[in-house]
Amino acid sequence: MQGIAVLPQGLENEGVKELIALGAKSATPLKRSVAFKADMSCFYRLHLLARLPFRFLREIARFSCDDRQSLYFGIQNSLDWERWIHPSMTFRVDVTGRSKGLPNSYYTALQVKNALVDLQRTVWGKRSDINIENPDICLHVHLNSQGCVLSLDGSARSLHRRGYRAAVGLAPLKENLAAGLMQISGWDGKVPLVDPLCGSGTLLIEAVSSLLGLVPATNRSFLFEGWADFDPNLWDIEQKNAYSNESPKQIIPLVLGCEQDPVVANHARKNIQEAGLQRHIKIQTSHFRDLVLPDAPGLIVCNPPYGKRIGMYEDLEDLYEELSRFLKKNASGWHFWLLSGNRDLSRSIQMKATKKFPISNGGIDCRWLNYLIN
Ligand SMILES: C[S@@+](CC[C@H](N)C(=O)[O-])C[C@H]1O[C@@H](n2cnc3c(N)ncnc32)[C@H](O)[C@@H]1O
Repeated sequence: MQGIAVLPQGLENEGVKELIALGAKSATPLKRSVAFKADMSCFYRLHLLARLPFRFLREIARFSCDDRQSLYFGIQNSLDWERWIHPSMTFRVDVTGRSKGLPNSYYTALQVKNALVDLQRTVWGKRSDINIENPDICLHVHLNSQGCVLSLDGSARSLHRRGYRAAVGLAPLKENLAAGLMQISGWDGKVPLVDPLCGSGTLLIEAVSSLLGLVPATNRSFLFEGWADFDPNLWDIEQKNAYSNESPKQIIPLVLGCEQDPVVANHARKNIQEAGLQRHIKIQTSHFRDLVLPDAPGLIVCNPPYGKRIGMYEDLEDLYEELSRFLKKNASGWHFWLLSGNRDLSRSIQMKATKKFPISNGGIDCRWLNYLIN
């Protein structure tokens, strides 16, 4: 099948690597997505094991359409709907893109819904209900100048929600973004890992979970389990393989988070516990200046406040300067990765970045900056 992985902007190249490692073919980066080919086993595996995408779309039809009528008939003719959506099932329609004759996503979704429920009424005399939060089928319509690409979304809920994070502090990173940042950092579990401003601990949890090969979300169901061509045997095999490859007891070096707000530090501990990583990640409640780093050089990652959402600018300038002094004094020879959403503030670090990756963090244009501390 032809598929699309939807990703945070800036993680497209990492997404390609992840998809290829999980068996996808012809993975090609696009804007905020990766196009790929996969067989059904691989499609199931991607849902179980990929850490970076928000969702996976399975293309089911492509047709030209330039107005409401051609969209309506195009949708009706694109699949044997009687097999796929019985009136007892609920559905949702998501729309991206637009075209000259279909400029409004809301009306496009409405027209797709009309095409389907009209068809159902003709066949069964009744229709499906719409369910936005928890549908049985989620249709994804993408419009462009050539027409419409119709896909099925394999999961109603975004895959970044792993389920371990009941509690978060201010401005938490999304789990898939944190996973992507850690993938870029190249941390391989051979050196200590420290986050001096760890908030709810997302960077550390994603780093360790990935290193140990843990299935990113357990106890989660997917919409493809209700598809007409769902193959339970294949799904069973993929699940068994995924869980048998986990190595939760692997010995790893020190992984330490520091958070000065005791409530947020407790959130981090709770999340770490939920993720099953309490034996691997320690959280210290203090200002980062009280951190004692191990001698062996390792990796420091951090996502300090950058003023768009939390923190006053002048205070933040002091914070960045103090962080810079701390690192230079205590972390010579360590690698440092900083997620910065404010160029002026990152200048207060007073070091020259050796690598820069543009990343969008919830719409804020950020840079993932790498420094070698000397
Ligand atoms: C942007 S948040 C980090 C979010 C985190 N990456 C997550 O996903 O939850 C920054 C965190 O740094 C903490 N912080 C601010 N100043 C600090 C300091 N001097 N020492 C330790 N933590 C600090 C804040 O309380 C806040 O939780």
